[in-house]
Amino acid sequence: MLFYLKNAWYLKFDVCIKKRGLVNLLPKHSSGCPYLILAPMEGLGDRFFRRSMATIGGFDESCTEFIRVPINAHVASLAKQYQKEETYPIPQAAQIMGSDPELMGAMAQEVVKRGAHRVDLNCGCPSNTVTGRGAGSSLLKNPSHLYQVAKALVKAVKVPVTAKLRSGYEDTSLFKENLLAAQESGVQFITLHPRTKVDGYGPPAKWELIAEAKALLKIPVVGNGDILTVADALNMLAQTKCDALMIGRGSVINPWIFQEIRASFTQKPFVPTWESFLYFIDLFWRGLQEEAPLRTQINKLKQLMSFFFKGNSSLLEKRNAMLTFKSTDPAEFLAHTLPLLKEGWRL
Ligand SMILES: Cc1cc2nc3c(=O)[nH]c(=O)nc-3n(C[C@H](O)[C@H](O)[C@H](O)COP(=O)(O)O)c2cc1C
Repeated sequence: MLFYLKNAWYLKFDVCIKKRGLVNLLPKHSSGCPYLILAPMEGLGDRFFRRSMATIGGFDESCTEFIRVPINAHVASLAKQYQKEETYPIPQAAQIMGSDPELMGAMAQEVVKRGAHRVDLNCGCPSNTVTGRGAGSSLLKNPSHLYQVAKALVKAVKVPVTAKLRSGYEDTSLFKENLLAAQESGVQFITLHPRTKVDGYGPPAKWELIAEAKALLKIPVVGNGDILTVADALNMLAQTKCDALMIGRGSVINPWIFQEIRASFTQKPFVPTWESFLYFIDLFWRGLQEEAPLRTQINKLKQLMSFFFKGNSSLLEKRNAMLTFKSTDPAEFLAHTLPLLKEGWRL
């Protein structure tokens, strides 16, 4: 299998470059800072969070959480979940997840009709309700199926198609085959979260696998997993030679992480202000108020705050009190919590 993929690929890739006019989708900044992408995070990095993140900025592109494409899906209705302008003026890619090549191709066309400039194939979601139907990380069990689904997307749309992979399902025995299958399908870059499906989010991400992918593939590789600080970002770049970085949870703990990474490539220090944080929270909450009942508003605010408290050692001991704060009124919850955060601000 590996032999076949390796040999067939070189020929097809040249044709693909000529036909599709491959451009650099991950340009570095003039400072040398790599292209930075806000990771898709279903339930956590929702549209309210992404909109707020766009006010802080610092990242070059955002990506929606997966839009699930079940068998018999009505793709035009499902595609309404994709809202191009959520992170305006920062472009937002659409991530789709499913296992039926034809349906996935049709879905890709629908999100492109709605303005998606890039379509990403989810090959990593560990959820059993999803994987039970052969999508998400289940695609990693079968490189030729992964190839067929990715290829269907590439054929269906003119915009770039990319894929986001974990390092395997139960283990990494098909790691290289999966990478090569994705590359052979014509995807224009791969984002690698180097944990298997079975790992979940537990053990440390194996950055050495990002280095392996980079050495193996001709297309660019976006490194992802466990970047919580500027130092982590610089270490990942140095250790893996990846072309760009994607950050998920690190941006919830510290929404300024992208700005801080950018600043590390210039001589100008970046100092976030308390006011910009308040604006961030206000926007997040206003979005929730428009769409969610009070209970959801409180739960979402607590979820977000728990990351801020986790990321600041001076606030850690107050985290439980924050999480168990009893109120059904989000304004009351914020009046209690924001002074705590202000006390520990950037300590
Ligand atoms: C709550 C949560 C939801 C996620 N949802 C998605 C998703 O919808 N699509 C996807 O490709 N990855 C998803 N991921 C994985 C992240 O994009 C990322 O690969 C992973 O968290 C590792 O990066 P990080 O250490 O920077 O968070 C999710 C992760 C978390 C924690």
